[in-house]
Amino acid sequence: MLAQCSSPSYTVYYNKMMPLQQLVAMIDRKEEFPMRVFVTGASGYVGSAIVRELIEAGHQVLGLARSDAAAASLASAGAEVHRGSLDDLDSLRSGAAATGGVIHTAYIHDFSAFEKAAQTDLLAVETIGVVLEGSGKPFVITSGTLMLTYLLPPGRLGTEENVPAAESVIPRIASENAAIALAERGVRSSVVRLPPSVHGEGDHGFVPTLIALARGKGVSAYPGDGSNHWPSVHRLDAAHLFRLALESAKAGSVLHAVADEGIPVREIAGVIGRRLDVPVVSVPVKEAGEHLGFLGNFFSLDSPASSTLTQQRLGWHPVQSGLLADLDGDYYFTNEAWSKYH
Ligand SMILES: NC(=O)c1ccc[n+]([C@@H]2O[C@H](COP(=O)([O-])OP(=O)(O)OC[C@H]3O[C@@H](n4cnc5c(N)ncnc54)[C@H](OP(=O)(O)O)[C@@H]3O)[C@@H](O)[C@H]2O)c1
Repeated sequence: MLAQCSSPSYTVYYNKMMPLQQLVAMIDRKEEFPMRVFVTGASGYVGSAIVRELIEAGHQVLGLARSDAAAASLASAGAEVHRGSLDDLDSLRSGAAATGGVIHTAYIHDFSAFEKAAQTDLLAVETIGVVLEGSGKPFVITSGTLMLTYLLPPGRLGTEENVPAAESVIPRIASENAAIALAERGVRSSVVRLPPSVHGEGDHGFVPTLIALARGKGVSAYPGDGSNHWPSVHRLDAAHLFRLALESAKAGSVLHAVADEGIPVREIAGVIGRRLDVPVVSVPVKEAGEHLGFLGNFFSLDSPASSTLTQQRLGWHPVQSGLLADLDGDYYFTNEAWSKYH
């Protein structure tokens, strides 16, 4: 898959599948290929798919691991292990300094301490940013399309151009702004916003939680008339976009890893109800929390999002199955998945 291209002073190894304009841009920036990439969250659901995507494209990965189990899973995936954590800022500094680019996906998913998790994320972004300052190296961070609900009226299709005010301190938006601002400080920074459902085998996010609730309560519930929209993407398509962002996103880009722009949530509840053979019921929006716990709020949001600009800018095109078809596959409803995550 690797080819070589030389000038008198410079040799670049590139992926034969890489579009010509991407290769030219990379040579212009004198970036190394393959790259050694520091990946935080490398042992996670999204991060592990990114690790595989990077290695298959010829890159080397230095993955952050905070436990022996994470270290073992990284090593078996062919990555180098960098021991540390989000709370150990020196481990972030040394990982970023040792590599040609960074993809940051680690996140503390503690919904009872949402603001603290966002502050930890912001500090991680700022810490890595200081190390990369002036280097021109790529730095890809992770955000979510649901933060568009802070910026847009319900139901408005969110785009990559919907960017929060620079001074915003709303959780996670501050991390986006910190990353975007790094473009002015010599970092080829970019933000990949993921939709609320990144689906696929191993999913342990919102959709499996909805399935667990439906199983436990004997009904598959949706809020109101269920016409509000959730965007989604397959995990492998998302991983591909992270690699493209690393290799060629312009400094300060905001990118949307969105395949399905917006699925009415009653259709998601509908597949879950059919697969579990339980009734599919509407619950009043103001009672959604009683039926769906912390998901009552999220599942009531109407937050469709587009990836048209991302597709145009990076030539990214999702090719995996959509959420509803994926939900109809077996792995969302197998005992094994339940015993692992619930
Ligand atoms: N999955 C989705 O549907 C979805 C949707 C929207 C946005 N996102 C975002 O995408 C990113 C990746 O999510 P994910 O689904 O892959 O999450 P995940 O499977 O829970 O993985 C989280 C990763 O972060 C690491 N991590 C957590 N706390 C850490 C700490 N204190 N220090 C160092 N590492 C730590 C975990 O390490 P361990 O392996 O050691 O636990 C793991 O590698 C996150 O920013 C998430 O908010 C995900």
